[in-house]
Amino acid sequence: MDRKETISYLLKKGILPTDDKIKELVEEDFKSASDVQSEQERKQDNNIQEQTQKEVIESRRIVEDIDTKIEVIRDYKSSAFKKFKLDDFPKLMRDRYEAIKSILLARQETEGCVSINKLNSTSGSAVIIAIISDILKLRTGTLKLDLEDLTGRVSGIIPIKNQEMIEKSKQLALDEVVAVKGSFSRGVLFINDIIWPDIPYVNREKCDEDVYVAFSGDLHIGSNTFLPKEFDKFLKWISGKSGNKTQRDIANKIKYVFIAGDLVDGVGIYPGQDKELTITDISKQYDKVAEYLSMIPNDKKILICPGNHDVGRIEEPQPALDKYMSAPVIELPNVISISNPAYLKIHKTKGFSGLNVLMYHGYSFDYFIDKIEYIRNSGGYESPDKLIEFLLRKRHLAPSHGSTLCLPLEEDPLVIRQVPDVVATGHIHKAKVSQYKGVLTIASSCWQKNTSFQDKMGLHADPCKVPILNLKTNSVRTLSFI
Ligand SMILES: [Fe+2]
Ligand SMILES: [Fe+2]
Repeated sequence: MDRKETISYLLKKGILPTDDKIKELVEEDFKSASDVQSEQERKQDNNIQEQTQKEVIESRRIVEDIDTKIEVIRDYKSSAFKKFKLDDFPKLMRDRYEAIKSILLARQETEGCVSINKLNSTSGSAVIIAIISDILKLRTGTLKLDLEDLTGRVSGIIPIKNQEMIEKSKQLALDEVVAVKGSFSRGVLFINDIIWPDIPYVNREKCDEDVYVAFSGDLHIGSNTFLPKEFDKFLKWISGKSGNKTQRDIANKIKYVFIAGDLVDGVGIYPGQDKELTITDISKQYDKVAEYLSMIPNDKKILICPGNHDVGRIEEPQPALDKYMSAPVIELPNVISISNPAYLKIHKTKGFSGLNVLMYHGYSFDYFIDKIEYIRNSGGYESPDKLIEFLLRKRHLAPSHGSTLCLPLEEDPLVIRQVPDVVATGHIHKAKVSQYKGVLTIASSCWQKNTSFQDKMGLHADPCKVPILNLKTNSVRTLSFI
């Protein structure tokens, strides 16, 4: 009711319409209206929440053909309807802390671990599991770490004279979860060891069948630096139309092709990009991708995740490419579109329990190359294998807040919960195959020459290389199509 309606209502009731009485009724009316509204909003929020729970839940789907079998174990769906709030971030961090803590607790070195609020009751030496919330280098070179768990905070000190620990601390990343050993005295933990969750040694099985898996990505179709002749050469080879007998034989035995994101160059991704595009319409860029990928025979399954140049949201987990703009690609009969990151199992057969693959485009890599001295000293952009190893040790694909854009889901999607047989990444544009504790780490190359932006970033592409894994021998050879 407005003021006029309220006065006439009061007069009808025989009540004198004083200012106080009118104000009281208007406020009451407003309150009940807003109660109804907030109740409606609550219902709407609950609906959205329920919908979101269904949408972000990991899905398990199996795609099976005569010669291939793909089990998608973790594939994040769109959460476009979810309203994220500021207090969703602590929930994400809590989940990360609990998940990595449980990995750390399985390690012998964390025996007798206490929470931070119990440090006072320890007899001196203690182990805690904490998030590194700050790292401060003092003028003397001594390091002061802010350590936090769900019960409190404590300062950790690494004195400059402990050079072994100072060296080890160069591998620390902000916001990561580690175990810290030290002696507690006068409210400070003097650190004498840092323990990362790490991965156990993985013994990769061999398959009886002579089956191959190809790893590629970063096509960047639409850019004037895309290399069409070289990509065409690869497509002809994989279709069994070129190469010598041995090469054709390998091509015929390829059953899985991983493409780790950045299928197109996109639009408006970096300053001045419009001057470096040959196709300025993103849907036409995907039409071209589909035209190329349709050359790959249907007996080879193409597993595609999005990258930071692809259409859709950039926040991770990025849902799989869908019909919006990229329909011609995902509608190809042999394409399986999955999220970034995603966990898959391929080629599970009677005598082989399958190859577990963690696929991640790698958007967080730039941050760690820029911020972590240890990574730069290990080769930076030249050594994506060292970066993957660094993240496997931390059991997280982007431990530092800001290293990538991440949605605050209730379950941190970037924690490496399951140890894979293979980590397949892209983004760095440099093929590098290595192993860490038995896990095969594969950084894929690209099909693009360096752009002016990459020149400025200090990234030197090594295009047109394709690592090929033989599941029978577990050996990898990298083919060049330049
Ligand atoms: Fe890329
Ligand atoms: Fe990228």
